[in-house]
Amino acid sequence: MIVQINKSLKTLNTFGIDQQAERLIWAHSTNEVLDYLKHHGAPTLVLGGGSNMLLTKDVQGDVLKIDIHGREVVFENEEEVHIRLGAGENWHEVVLWTLSQGLGGMENLSLIPGNCGTAPVQNIGAYGVELKDLLIRVEGVQLDPAQTFELDNAGCEFGYRDSIFKNAWKGKAIITHITVALTKVNHRLNMDYGAIKSELEKAEIDAPTPRDISNAVVKIRQSKLPDPAVLGNSGSFFKNPVVSSDIAQQLLERYTDMPTYDVSGGVKLAAGWLIEQAGWKGFRRGDAGVHEKQALVLVNYGDASGDEVLTLAHDIIDDVAKKYGVQLQAEVNLI
Ligand code: EPU
Repeated sequence: MIVQINKSLKTLNTFGIDQQAERLIWAHSTNEVLDYLKHHGAPTLVLGGGSNMLLTKDVQGDVLKIDIHGREVVFENEEEVHIRLGAGENWHEVVLWTLSQGLGGMENLSLIPGNCGTAPVQNIGAYGVELKDLLIRVEGVQLDPAQTFELDNAGCEFGYRDSIFKNAWKGKAIITHITVALTKVNHRLNMDYGAIKSELEKAEIDAPTPRDISNAVVKIRQSKLPDPAVLGNSGSFFKNPVVSSDIAQQLLERYTDMPTYDVSGGVKLAAGWLIEQAGWKGFRRGDAGVHEKQALVLVNYGDASGDEVLTLAHDIIDDVAKKYGVQLQAEVNLI
């Protein structure tokens, strides 16, 4: 375990927020996590890829950075391969690695920032695929008592950008490994998303491989979403809200071009559309702003504090509530 004192977390969160950890401790294996917990109890903050959080203050106490690596084939037959991944493996690097071996399953989830261990927490999803569609197992360590656990897919209680790790187990467990199922043949390609179809058409590909889909997704994401290495951000800052069909109907009568998606339990609205219509797209206050190409993404132009981003988020939430009667919720974890 490596321990660093009064260490800035700026490079360890994709928002690039400059807050400090009193002690930053790097854990490289499940045993190191267990050792830490047995000697120190729960840390103030567990840090994965730092891609889905907004730091609003310095962290007093310990930040435990999960830096567990490893990519291991744990099952294989003629059709599929199960791969066990360390929580600290960078998600997109793993996606590219699987594609280079002709494996399918992760292609729609290309270029999502963050690490493998963070992926189950919010059930990452994009272009019609969610992690839950390929996840076999999550392994980790419970904080109290400090002991290992294993959850299968159902045990993770996945929902839209949601899981047991955001609810009953919030703050109670550390993910150390995930296992995903990938296809070797008969890839179950998901091309329903309109933008993917048009990218494939543009490239004149009519029998796409997982790699072709990934290339299309990368193109779409690069055209709309800021690269955290260039402009600090945490992907979608807000969840797309689900409202009752009555409310959706009332809104549709006033805003006939509003995008809606039927989901179980109601109608999902596009938060990005609501925020754009409310006039916030491209808005900037100091170094905190709303991305100019995707209103769902808040950005840090350099030196924004977590508080400045949060104040902007609250202003947007209040304004959308006032104008549309819809309550937006942050998707990122506020620390
Ligand atoms: N829209 C606007 N203005 C905007 C943004 C979106 O009008 O500024 C409209 C679009 O034109 C479209 C609708 O809203 O009609 C939906 O937009 P889009 O397809 O871009 O997807 P999204 O709902 O904005 C979600 C995910 C993204 C994911 C994409 C693609 C959430 C919170 N976000 O965004 O995930 O990449 O779909 O599947 O569900 C993330 O979670 O970090 C993330 C980027």
